Amino acid sequence: MTDPAAPLPLERPNHFDPPAALARLRASDPVSPLAYPDGHTGWLVTGHALVRAVLADSRFSSRAELNHFPIPRASAPATLQPAPPGIFTRMDPPDHTRYRHLLTGQFTVRRMRELTTRIEQITTEHLDAMDRHGPPVDLVEAYAMPIPALVICELLGVPSTDRERFQRHSAELMRLDNTPQERITAYTALQEFMHALVTAKRAEPTDDMLSGLTAADITDEELTNIGFMLLGAGFETTANMLALGTFALLCHPDQLAFLRADPSSIDHTVEELLRYLSVVPYTTRTALEDVELDGRVVKAGETVTVSISAADRDPHRFTDPDVLDLRRQTGGHLAFGHGIHQCLGQQLARVEMRVGYPALFNRFPTLRLDVAPEEVPLRTDMLIYGVHRLPVTWDAA
Ligand code: HEM
Repeated sequence: MTDPAAPLPLERPNHFDPPAALARLRASDPVSPLAYPDGHTGWLVTGHALVRAVLADSRFSSRAELNHFPIPRASAPATLQPAPPGIFTRMDPPDHTRYRHLLTGQFTVRRMRELTTRIEQITTEHLDAMDRHGPPVDLVEAYAMPIPALVICELLGVPSTDRERFQRHSAELMRLDNTPQERITAYTALQEFMHALVTAKRAEPTDDMLSGLTAADITDEELTNIGFMLLGAGFETTANMLALGTFALLCHPDQLAFLRADPSSIDHTVEELLRYLSVVPYTTRTALEDVELDGRVVKAGETVTVSISAADRDPHRFTDPDVLDLRRQTGGHLAFGHGIHQCLGQQLARVEMRVGYPALFNRFPTLRLDVAPEEVPLRTDMLIYGVHRLPVTWDAA
């Protein structure tokens, strides 16, 4: 007998662990019926091997018009719509392949090297500003948000005179307390901004990714949407990793001490934080034909929500998975996804974190929370997990 479908569990037991119900399902029923807010009945997959298998299987589609969304959204359209031109994360091959290939060609070794230098400069500038301001600050606003936003500006070649406006609109999209109307206004403003930027790059190409793409056979609409997608994929994710990762290290002083004692452990630190926090908690795929999965049959047209956060805490894959352990060799986490849609910006995100965490703790050795951990507002209801604010303080010199 099939169990009744339940909604996606969202309630977390604490700041860093995924919803407890996910662990129970992973142990007893790793492919379980899931009730979607639009009335669809599909599946929830929680085991590491199964999540990986779904993400690698071309019988599962990413197409926007086939995938039901697992959490309620105020702005959900009445029917599922195809992805707009250029938004290839929600497309299948061959459309996905064409766009992905175009973009991969832009992440050159030279560009990554130059971006690394810029990330170091941007990070130092923000630490200087924090120093000048003095304690306390909201680390999200002062550090975790501006760094990834400016890195996207570098990638897209946003002129320095426009960066303040770009950052303001991006930050507005992420704010907790804005109304749906304010979000729409910020969204529209950014879209107009991106369109104007594309027009400018076409007229006068510079040495950036957007200008590089204008050489391809691609429309302004596609380019505008790609710029928007890079912002959507690369800003909130990295900002939340920087803030939530700092929060996690501050709450695990033994681990922070280990990182301080052995700065060469930063690469492991970043991988372990990615696994432990899995800020993109889930993604979806829809079966194009009937697929057997762990003894269940996922019928054609049914949406599977794969829980990345449950997979990355699977005891069959990681020993003591609920422990943050910077000494472990965290290979094989799924925080950047898996398969053909695996994160395109992962090397860039890694550089931002490898630079961002140590620079912060070196500059402010006495950095600590300025509120009790329970008072840090969490993004439980958002697509990307993290903190809305992170009040921190330190002993000023
Ligand atoms: C720590 C930060 C980040 C995390 C945790 C993250 C996570 C992910 C995940 C889980 C996916 C796969 C989604 C799916 O399969 O449905 C993805 C895809 C993607 N990410 Fe990231 N991401 C991060 C940073 C970035 C950055 C900095 C960029 C670019 C500037 C970026 C660009 C993309 C793009 C373009 C895709 C779609 C790839 C495709 O569909 O082929 N991401 N990311």
